[in-house]
Amino acid sequence: MSGKITFTMIKPMAVKKGFIGPIMAKIAEGGFRIVSMKLTRISIEQAQKFYEIHKERPFYGELTEFMSSGPIVAAILEKDDAVQAYRDYIGATNPAEAEAETIRALYGTNLGMNAVHGSDSDENAIIESDFFFSKVERY
Ligand code: RTP
Ligand code: MG
Repeated sequence: MSGKITFTMIKPMAVKKGFIGPIMAKIAEGGFRIVSMKLTRISIEQAQKFYEIHKERPFYGELTEFMSSGPIVAAILEKDDAVQAYRDYIGATNPAEAEAETIRALYGTNLGMNAVHGSDSDENAIIESDFFFSKVERY
């Protein structure tokens, strides 16, 4: 059965470019309800832990350095079938290949700086949400 929540981050380059407002507006427009949200910054160690599943991938170093390079927005989003709905909504990993009007097509810079993260399974949505938010930070 598909879950109701997913976890997202607005990545450092999109924050730096001033895209928090437009991306949050787009998220609302897509029918996602904000359960939790914060502007924060993660250390390299936290980024390494968050992306542990990619530890063996060649881009792990670049990814974790980038994700800890500046502030990010972390959020839990709610919608029916949230994980798949949000992945469809943000578009392909590479913004150059993302469908027009998706968040990554609109606000992504390149493959690494692709504007936003989106959970890839219900299980990871829970793990990632728990990484950033306590129970009392969910509304
Ligand atoms: P995300 O986890 O950020 O939502 O992205 P995704 O599921 O679409 O892609 P994933 O395979 O989980 O990769 C995580 C992030 O690593 C960067 N990446 N770089 N240089 C490369 O070949 C490469 N491949 C992936 C991307 O920023 C991707 O979002
Ligand atoms: Mg992923």
